[in-house]
Amino acid sequence: MSDDVVDTLDLDTKARLLAGQDMWSLPGVPAIGLRPIVMSDGPVGVRGVRWTADDPSLALPSPTALAATWDPSLARRAGRVLAAEARRKGVHVLLAPTVNLHRSPLGGRHFEAYSEDPYLTASIGTGYVRGVQDGGVAAVVKHFVANDAETERFTVNNKVSGRALRELYLAPFEAIVKDARPWGVMAAYNQVNGVTMTEHGHLLNDVLRGEWGFDGVVVSDWLAARDTVRAALGGLDVAMPGPATVYGPALAEAVRAGVVPESVVDDAVRRVLRLAARVGALGGEPPLAPDGEDGVALAREIAGRSFVLVRNAPVCGTPALPLDPAQGLRVALLGGAARDARILGGGSAQVFPARVVPPLDGLRAALPEGAVTYAVGADPGDELLVAGAGFALRAVCRDAAGRVLGEERMPDGMVQWLGDLPAGVERAALHAVEVTGTFTPRESGAHLFGTKGVGAFRLVVDGRTLFDGEQGADHADPFEAFLGSPVERGRVALEAGEAVEVSLTYVVAEPAGAPIEAVGFCLLHRDPERDAEELLAEAVAAAASADAAVVVVATTERVESEGFDRSTLALPGRQDELVAKVAAVNPRTVVVVNAGSPVELPWRDDVAAVLMGWFPGQEAGGALADVLLGVCEPGGRLPTTWPARLADAPVTRVAPVAGELAYEEEVFIGYRAWEKARATPAYAFGHGLGYTDWSYESLDIDRGATAAATARVRVRNTGSRPGREVVQIYLAVPPGDEAARPARRLAGFASVEAGPGEAVEAVVALDPRAFEVWDDEAADRRRIPGTYTAEAGRSIADRRLTAPVEVP
Ligand code: BGC
Repeated sequence: MSDDVVDTLDLDTKARLLAGQDMWSLPGVPAIGLRPIVMSDGPVGVRGVRWTADDPSLALPSPTALAATWDPSLARRAGRVLAAEARRKGVHVLLAPTVNLHRSPLGGRHFEAYSEDPYLTASIGTGYVRGVQDGGVAAVVKHFVANDAETERFTVNNKVSGRALRELYLAPFEAIVKDARPWGVMAAYNQVNGVTMTEHGHLLNDVLRGEWGFDGVVVSDWLAARDTVRAALGGLDVAMPGPATVYGPALAEAVRAGVVPESVVDDAVRRVLRLAARVGALGGEPPLAPDGEDGVALAREIAGRSFVLVRNAPVCGTPALPLDPAQGLRVALLGGAARDARILGGGSAQVFPARVVPPLDGLRAALPEGAVTYAVGADPGDELLVAGAGFALRAVCRDAAGRVLGEERMPDGMVQWLGDLPAGVERAALHAVEVTGTFTPRESGAHLFGTKGVGAFRLVVDGRTLFDGEQGADHADPFEAFLGSPVERGRVALEAGEAVEVSLTYVVAEPAGAPIEAVGFCLLHRDPERDAEELLAEAVAAAASADAAVVVVATTERVESEGFDRSTLALPGRQDELVAKVAAVNPRTVVVVNAGSPVELPWRDDVAAVLMGWFPGQEAGGALADVLLGVCEPGGRLPTTWPARLADAPVTRVAPVAGELAYEEEVFIGYRAWEKARATPAYAFGHGLGYTDWSYESLDIDRGATAAATARVRVRNTGSRPGREVVQIYLAVPPGDEAARPARRLAGFASVEAGPGEAVEAVVALDPRAFEVWDDEAADRRRIPGTYTAEAGRSIADRRLTAPVEVP
């Protein structure tokens, strides 16, 4: 059917169909019943076409958290809920999941990817994609491929061997394409072996489409398509965002000039029309929003299931957790992030939830009044934040003569209009935007104000002009440069409860030449700083007089976000000192790590319990209370190896040298590399404790006709409460092979549940790829015969049972 339709379209229309018409959509063609196809990020929620808090979205836990559940069916439920969100917001295409790998713990978007292991990544990604597409919304698997770090991400040439590509970086894409049939894949910014990914004919046309049978649309990462002819011939279908792209008129021109065959354009248009038909944007009535399950309840469930209890030492003879609320429990809850939780990572993964339950609210709601004492102790960051609490703001749009064109209420100080201006405002007439209103401080003292954006600003607080001038772009990453960096503009002494006027005027830059037609800037604010020593002392005093101290430590937006990598794994500010001081006065000190990726925990053996809380999504506090008080078990297992110190990690380099980043470690990343280096991390891949104990009783291998095998593992809950166990199967290579191949790899896993004393069997199909290597010379896979060892256990470092697997 779509063949006929393509024949009815003229070249200009076809070329236009392959280019973004604005930040988030492809143009419609009413004559053929094609409506605009709308895309949105992904992956924790569906932001929609507005990048501001006035269009709230459900915020699920971040991808490392989802992967820590080791539960593809939970990922599928997440996908379904997000499909319903997408429909509600008129979104057809969700730009998610991110299935790049945790190659280095310094990777800035580590929080947004699932794991260091391609098999676990593929399992979670497959569940997520199936769920999104169950709801009739396209999933776009990103970023294809080897976008595993952020430094120089637009240009870096990642040098990766064919074997490392096949066995690691391509593997999740391949499995997801074959098993979940995603309707989209996003081509990354970077180059792989000298060819930029939006032009990579070999990987896009030969491998993705040819070998794996991908029949969906390849969309560029935002601003990643650079060259009309090379992108078209290289297999890129859609260039985003618009309106200025290398497709559209430039593509029609290239066809007329004879440098791009029209058949290439026709094929891409066919794929776009297929996408439109799949998501309900072609003909007929647009589909209704599917009924999803309750997203808020799911956000809480996933968070609780994702928390990884890595340490739970006994205090007075019993494990520190769960806390027993029955005994008139008094908890000292400490840390800036306990009150202002970091629920998601920064950059394009950001959404704006309608509500956030921080740990403080979650614990207070779960315990009797007065049971929880809160103290900041140490603030994770000294960063300016988007003006929020206490501000009542609106944005006023004016033309060059100062006439008001339109107004909009602002839930916070962020203006981010990406091709979508307030009602009645035309981009051509718009000259200035003023964010104006009042600020009523929560605390007395010197309040800090700042600006973010690129262009001319005037900031006035309580009648004082704090800034009047130009703010430049100072970021190497073009996308980040467009958004601008935060700049301090001055402090104003204010009284708690006394409202003052605030105004930030921004003169809108000329649209010409800008990569994105958008208006974006922020009014920033920070509460008065308190004396750091005083804060610490207050927290220590609270901890000393409580039955348990719960310290929430966190990274900040300046530490973990998009567009840059980390340079250290240390927690920012004086948080380490806070934990050490608290642990010295309270033996039941429980530390909750609110970070999307590994951080150094130098005090980890001196505290009673350590709980990895990731970026837990909007229902953070409720889920945390459930786990701390034993309403549910912490269900997570580490999806990535947690180093004690950055210096111990075998693969860390993310900075290119002369534009190149060599993946010198070959196929040895994550636990593969730790094992090769014979190094011991703080916490091993797969590790995580529940609230019960398990014994591993038997392991049997059923061999199929091929190398495919199934492991049957009998485990018994030997503890006193019901529990859930993630049974992991590692496959060790035949003796002598360890130099050339990772000594062992995750070959499968399954979750089981059992009551106290009960035994259950986990049935785990082993990944046939675990018996193979990619042979670069033959450009194919080879099965390696020999006697392998299947090992069943609780983590890669805690393997309980073994059984031989003969591979002929
Ligand atoms: C990110 C993508 C995202 C896109 C649109 C890019 O900077 O790399 O993951 O989907 O922006 O927001």
